[in-house]
Amino acid sequence: MFNLKNKKAYITGGSGGIGRAVAELMIANGAQVAIADINDPSTVAAEIGAIPLQCDVADESNVQRSLADAEKALGKLDIVVLNAGIGDVGPEIGELDQSLLERVTRINYWGVLYGMKHAPTVMADGGSIICTSSMAAFINLPGGAAYSASKRAIISLAEMAALELGHRNIRVNCVCPGYTDTAMGSGDEGRKICEAFTALGRVANVDDISGVFLFLASDASRYMTGQALKVDGGWVCGPTTNLLEMVTGAAHSPS
Ligand SMILES: NC(=O)c1ccc[n+]([C@@H]2O[C@H](COP(=O)([O-])OP(=O)(O)OC[C@H]3O[C@@H](n4cnc5c(N)ncnc54)[C@H](O)[C@@H]3O)[C@@H](O)[C@H]2O)c1
Repeated sequence: MFNLKNKKAYITGGSGGIGRAVAELMIANGAQVAIADINDPSTVAAEIGAIPLQCDVADESNVQRSLADAEKALGKLDIVVLNAGIGDVGPEIGELDQSLLERVTRINYWGVLYGMKHAPTVMADGGSIICTSSMAAFINLPGGAAYSASKRAIISLAEMAALELGHRNIRVNCVCPGYTDTAMGSGDEGRKICEAFTALGRVANVDDISGVFLFLASDASRYMTGQALKVDGGWVCGPTTNLLEMVTGAAHSPS
């Protein structure tokens, strides 16, 4: 069910972090993969056996062109992973800088929108589109307004696209990782937050996340569309015993 033999995949932000791990896992499971990235993806592509495509997802014509190039190289696409994104911690909303807002919105929100707009024309019926959202879509950390809003927006887009593409049996879902150890990634702050706030008590690594993309790309998820899967080590379950102890001095709810 998880086999991707003969499947063709296109992954944005595939040069590093989560995108690269997803590309490697899909290749290991039989897919042919093109990685599209703003940073020249040639070296990574050669290392993992993918096709490199240079693309800035904030530019609609770039996205359209790289999808067309992927189709030229591979044929009709079965899997499109709209993963490229940037993290940002800015000031609170009252101080939000226009250029920061535009940068985050153009890449994280419009970049995914462009992918959804142009991918269907180069996809085979029965394909799967997967967007990388974030736990930031559900749990707000002050100073992350532009980022959180962009990640919530793409869940809405994915639901809309799921409705519009269902007649072609193209499924559209989101993966919402918690803090993950990548270049954008966790840093010391993310590690500490995960230790305190997640049921599993640790930050994610890219291999903790990539399997969920494989699931959503494969037949194993063939009746799932319009969903946002939280891959967060149990962050949304509620406060951990560690956290309760820190706040109340007791590792259980107050009686
Ligand atoms: N790392 C985390 O803690 C975390 C948590 C939740 C969600 N995410 C999301 O996961 C996705 C991947 O992030 P990551 O942690 O792997 O980060 P990363 O920085 O390691 O990798 C991001 C990749 O996207 C590429 N990229 C950046 N801007 C681009 C653009 N305009 N056009 C094309 N490619 C571009 C980068 O060159 C890089 O290869 C992002 O959408 C991010 O928001 C990350």
